[in-house]
Amino acid sequence: MKTIAITYSKGGVGKTATAVNTAAVLADEGFRVLLVDLDPQGCATANFSVKKDMESFPTAFELLTGDSEPSGAIIHTGIKGLDLIGAEYRLSKINDFLYDPEKCPKEIAQYILKDRLEEVKNNYDFCLLDCLPSDDMIKKNALSAANYVVLPAIADDYALTGLEYLSKELAEVKRTTNPALSVLGVLFTMNENTAVKKAYTDALSNGQNIFPVFQQTIRKCSKIPEALNHQKPVVHYRCTAGRDYVAFTYELLTRLGYDNYSVDKLKQQQLFQPYLAHKGRG
Ligand SMILES: Nc1ncnc2c1ncn2[C@@H]1O[C@H](COP(=O)(O)OP(=O)(O)OP(=O)(O)O)[C@@H](O)[C@H]1O
Ligand SMILES: [Mg+2]
Repeated sequence: MKTIAITYSKGGVGKTATAVNTAAVLADEGFRVLLVDLDPQGCATANFSVKKDMESFPTAFELLTGDSEPSGAIIHTGIKGLDLIGAEYRLSKINDFLYDPEKCPKEIAQYILKDRLEEVKNNYDFCLLDCLPSDDMIKKNALSAANYVVLPAIADDYALTGLEYLSKELAEVKRTTNPALSVLGVLFTMNENTAVKKAYTDALSNGQNIFPVFQQTIRKCSKIPEALNHQKPVVHYRCTAGRDYVAFTYELLTRLGYDNYSVDKLKQQQLFQPYLAHKGRG
């Protein structure tokens, strides 16, 4: 199982949209995928039509406290191959547990998620972690558990500061808890077809060498907030951001060494046959 943390130092940059849609495309491609919602607001969870009452069903909170086995917290999303460990408000209290040495020994507090995910590693090809922007124990757990990180960002004036901050944060993670952590790249989200946006994207793609950047960007698209209301990933719609997430996932797979996921081939196919039809759902 390859574990990928979707993380960034700022809020509202498209982390959850990236986690949900990348997970859906990976599942559509036949991979077995586990998405773990690590946000107490449960935004990733809200993207699916989950029939469970999350106030009583085990979530990421019980996974971290040890009150539930990972298998007990897993929910089938209704999308073939895509499972979810959900989150809800009580996850906001997890830091009280993780920072309390009487409840959780200090030496293991950052490794609990990694440890729990070990138990399901043979059941999944990919585990995606939807992180919060805050620097707390939840994120420390995510970055200790991950093999890779993807960094969704908005190409604007603040992006460089965000990337510099992240380079320090990730360097510290590599020095302390997870030396093998690898950055797959920055993914520019909410892209717009304007000269200013293009200038920022070009400058941040070619003018910085802090992190690699994905060629694919995700366009700003009204279907993304709408998809949440329909509790269906946007990749299951015919829309620009949906197509972008499919192409992004292909680029991600190529970066991970999977040979059959050429973005050029996908784009040629999409000219004639939208992704849904391509996957038998059109
Ligand atoms: N490509 C897009 N086009 C238009 N709206 C988008 C796009 N991506 C995300 N959004 C919207 O922007 C808002 C923030 O997106 P999202 O929740 O994915 O960000 P986030 O980084 O996970 O935020 P947080 O830090 O609060 O968890 C949401 O309302 C989402 O629907
Ligand atoms: Mg989010």
